[in-house]
Amino acid sequence: MTRRLNALVVAFLALAFAAAAEPLQPAPLPHVMILATGGTIAGTGATATTTVGYTAATIGVEALIAAVPELAKVARVSGEQVFQIASENMTPDNWLRLGRRVNELLARDDVAGVVITHGTDTLEETAYFLDLVVKSAKPIVLVGAMRPATAISADGPMNLYNAVALAASREAVGRGVLVCMNDRIDAARDVTKTNTVALDTFRSPELGVLGMMEGGRPAFYRTADRAHTTATEFDIKDLRELPKVGIALAYAGSGRIAIDAMVAAGVKGIVNAGVGDGSLSVEARAALVEARAKGIVVVRASRIPGGAVARNGEADDDALDFVVADNLSPQKARILLALALTRTTDTREIQRMFRRY
Ligand code: SIN
Repeated sequence: MTRRLNALVVAFLALAFAAAAEPLQPAPLPHVMILATGGTIAGTGATATTTVGYTAATIGVEALIAAVPELAKVARVSGEQVFQIASENMTPDNWLRLGRRVNELLARDDVAGVVITHGTDTLEETAYFLDLVVKSAKPIVLVGAMRPATAISADGPMNLYNAVALAASREAVGRGVLVCMNDRIDAARDVTKTNTVALDTFRSPELGVLGMMEGGRPAFYRTADRAHTTATEFDIKDLRELPKVGIALAYAGSGRIAIDAMVAAGVKGIVNAGVGDGSLSVEARAALVEARAKGIVVVRASRIPGGAVARNGEADDDALDFVVADNLSPQKARILLALALTRTTDTREIQRMFRRY
């Protein structure tokens, strides 16, 4: 009995030593999917100094990945070409397709995060839409470039490297959709393009960056507070189209032409990008009151890039049954209103959503 016990102990120790002698396998790198949609990051110019007048959306996702071999050091990447467009051609139908694809991919155990390459012109809109409809805490990062891939000092490769490193990082989990450009990390809700040509164009003017990329690692400094991704009530799984919502821009003498045209076109909601604190001219006010009487939901936003529109400030929103956009830009208020209208037409409920998201 004792001899058999000894033999067992010897066999156990031999196995333990053999296991210890095995070289340790490094943990596999996270798998990050790159979904390419076009834009300047995939653009080409006639010469290496062509930074205006180039053609956006000409390079495919495999070439974008091949141009940055260093990606393999931070993640296992694979690519998918979802669209190949300049982002001025992005549509709500594209958003729905993209949102559903992101949800499908992130539901898979083998996908740790998603990077979306995108034209910079409407990048902030796609980012906010995804922030409201993606049902996953895994990292989702949007990235673009201001210089085409063929330009001297093109910003795309480093931006893509940072975006993939961010999407592969544990620090990015649960933060909602992020925008990573020019070493900055911004929240989808807060960020906006602030300069037509500068590389350092994406900013969160009043609220600031969430963090910075430093040597391929994220350093976060704050958390965005508004509800996003898994905490929203929006579900696009079976949604075939978004309700039509338009934006009317106010300017001196703008009158009511745009508002009336949108009503005639059958919109379900109007975001009025008013002056100042969302102020309405006499004509715009009358047109919006008529629109509301027809059941169209009216949101008072402002064309000013900073600050919130005060409820019952420049208009009696309670009496007029209007909603205020908080501090959302008109283009982001339009996205939230369209999604809100998939749930309800009750303006109190919609105002609640504008306070929450
Ligand atoms: C675009 O938005 O597709 C063109 C401009 C850019 O990507 O910077």
